[in-house]
Amino acid sequence: MEPKLKPMELVAIPVLLALLSLSNKANAGPQVPCYFIFGDSLSDNGNNNNLPTLAKVNYLPYGIDFPQGPTGRFCNGRNMHDFIAQLLGFEDYIPAFANSRGKNISNGVNYASGSAGIRDETGTNLGVCVPFNEQIKNHKRIISIITRLMQNDSATDLLLRKCIYSVQIGSNDYINNYFKPEFYETGRSFTPSEYATLLVQQLSLQLKTLYNYGARKFAVYGIGQIGCTPYAISVFGSNGSECVAKLNEGATLFNDRLKPLIHRLNNNLPGAKFIYLNPSGSPTDTATFVMNSSCCTTGGGGGELCVRNSKPCSSPWRYVFWDAVHPTEALNKILAESAYRSKSPLEASPLNIQQLAMY
Ligand SMILES: *[C@@H]1O[C@H](CO)[C@@H](O)[C@H](O)[C@H]1NC(C)=O
Ligand SMILES: *[C@@H]1O[C@H](CO)[C@@H](O)[C@H](O)[C@H]1NC(C)=O
Ligand SMILES: *[C@@H]1O[C@H](CO)[C@@H](O)[C@H](O)[C@H]1NC(C)=O
Ligand SMILES: *[C@@H]1O[C@H](CO)[C@@H](O)[C@H](O)[C@H]1NC(C)=O
Repeated sequence: MEPKLKPMELVAIPVLLALLSLSNKANAGPQVPCYFIFGDSLSDNGNNNNLPTLAKVNYLPYGIDFPQGPTGRFCNGRNMHDFIAQLLGFEDYIPAFANSRGKNISNGVNYASGSAGIRDETGTNLGVCVPFNEQIKNHKRIISIITRLMQNDSATDLLLRKCIYSVQIGSNDYINNYFKPEFYETGRSFTPSEYATLLVQQLSLQLKTLYNYGARKFAVYGIGQIGCTPYAISVFGSNGSECVAKLNEGATLFNDRLKPLIHRLNNNLPGAKFIYLNPSGSPTDTATFVMNSSCCTTGGGGGELCVRNSKPCSSPWRYVFWDAVHPTEALNKILAESAYRSKSPLEASPLNIQQLAMY
């Protein structure tokens, strides 16, 4: 006589089958349902193309190594977030907000805008941009479209909680604000330390607004070594050293306030997980790269961008800098790998993006 299945086993089999089919799905699709991107030119993938600004790059040699050619990415090929989206398992690029109409926005949207900052006035010396505050308003518009499409508020909330929200902003609050005294008062009104405090306070409010709009998984980047860019060295001079000290000091003051903020937000906002990412990755990875010159001929935009239709260097994969401020595709790939996988708390803390996705 066959032993009868106990009630426990009757339950266990369908659960196991369901888990198996879930894990098969997870292998096929992305690790999170959506990836929302906020930031500046390091993340922008075309939002500035139709704005009256010098901070746009929908011309060659930008995009020379990108399948669709120049798209508005500030790079020869893919930017860091293109690689991260790929590592997260997305098959398509995340669409730019500016041309998201008709695109699949359920996988996320990229709101980033070249020259934008935490402060609204930042970057306006170059023309019109979409500051972080406005990017957050655009996100609210996208949420209402998604809510309408899904026709189920609790399912929409559940979806938004699972997405990753990338925030990489602040460099322009220095290079296109604080250190441009001919355009902005901030450098005279605040000490470097006061200014960093002010920026991080405002960023804190902005992150909380995104939290109130349903975001729970945040990947927040510090500011990189802006004093080591060919642009900074040509404008400010480096006084014999490799980098412009005052710019890097600004970035360090900012990062030193951002890290404890991330810690506080993790403690104070229920259900949220914030991670801090070092935008420079690991220095040893770049030891073999050319650091002290740009791959393309610069002088476009406000001086820091490639000259339209100029011929770039023949080996961009050996360079850190594509133009005078933005990394090459080769470096972006390394930076993305670090943010996604690094086990070093100096690079990703308390989790990396891969762990954030599973959290
Ligand atoms: C959009 O993406 C979502 C999530 O990946 C998917 O379920 C849906 O089928 C896609 N819609 C279209 C129209 O491609
Ligand atoms: C709405 O979504 C929730 C959560 O996914 C689900 O439990 C519920 O059945 C849905 N309601 C309708 C009417 O589909
Ligand atoms: C340049 O470097 C020297 C030696 O480190 C230092 O004494 C001097 O103050 C620096 N000048 C400027 C303008 O930073
Ligand atoms: C860049 O650095 C390399 C190696 O350190 C050096 O040989 C080269 O002269 C430098 N080029 C410029 C333009 O400073």
